[in-house]
Amino acid sequence: MPLRLQDKVALITGGAAGIGAAIVRRFVQEGAWVMVGDRDQPHGAALCQELSGATVFQGLDVSEADSFAVAIERAVGQWGKLDILVNNAGIALPAETVQNTTLDQFDELVAVNLRSVFLGCKLAYPHLKASRGCVLNISSMAGVTGQERHAIYGATKGAIIALTKCAAVDWGRDGIRINALCPAGVWTDTLRQWIKAQPEAAGIEEYLKRIHALGYCPEPVEVATVAAFLCSEEARFVTGCIMPVSGGSECGYNVHAPVPLADPQS
Ligand SMILES: NC(=O)c1ccc[n+]([C@@H]2O[C@H](COP(=O)([O-])OP(=O)(O)OC[C@H]3O[C@@H](n4cnc5c(N)ncnc54)[C@H](O)[C@@H]3O)[C@@H](O)[C@H]2O)c1
Repeated sequence: MPLRLQDKVALITGGAAGIGAAIVRRFVQEGAWVMVGDRDQPHGAALCQELSGATVFQGLDVSEADSFAVAIERAVGQWGKLDILVNNAGIALPAETVQNTTLDQFDELVAVNLRSVFLGCKLAYPHLKASRGCVLNISSMAGVTGQERHAIYGATKGAIIALTKCAAVDWGRDGIRINALCPAGVWTDTLRQWIKAQPEAAGIEEYLKRIHALGYCPEPVEVATVAAFLCSEEARFVTGCIMPVSGGSECGYNVHAPVPLADPQS
């Protein structure tokens, strides 16, 4: 079977860890050349060393226009083109209500999660137009359904969904596709930190199984396989798509629950 991303050039933000690192691995398996853009130099460089040859690490702060421009130009300089931008870098904390979020916290969440997607799309546009390439944004089910104590995080993820749909309309005639993935929970460092920040951290692991209709919280590779498909030729007629990779979490309450709900008798 031919490789899905043979000789495609991709920039993956937040590629040093978690979902981003899984996408990097998957893209390399599928034949792509990958620039790993991340502010975490040690993990990003270690990943690139492990995957030798097909990847290059670039220090990147996605909230800064100059930093993003350098990463895009380096990818184009290295491999002569840019076919795929994966806007994956994001932060989930602080997880709070509107009234308990400070202005600085609001600004940071918006800068890292949303301003970054705008910057990446804007700066990559001429290169993607030249390659008839694509963008994949990593949103979240929190931007679709809402989530307790995640008002600003959810707002940034919902805005990414709107940006994705609008840009799909604008860019269709340029031959650029843009889609978004919405995970619910995925086992990564962000999720582990988020669990620690919850008032009842001990019960959260079971809760994470319950919210997914398929009965488990997935590893990042489950998101990476869908990312590879959406960025491949197989998805050439797919744009503006907001795709849940959520084990059916949005389909109903506690469907196929692997553990019983709290026993009202106890
Ligand atoms: N893990 C989940 O349960 C989950 C669920 C839904 C959506 N998501 C989304 O998936 C994406 C990846 O999340 P993850 O769980 O893999 O996180 P993670 O913390 O495991 O990895 C995120 C990576 O992004 C990098 N990063 C953070 N801020 C950055 C910045 N300003 N510039 C450059 N790099 C930066 C980090 O250094 C890290 O390598 C995020 O956008 C997140 O909102 C995650």
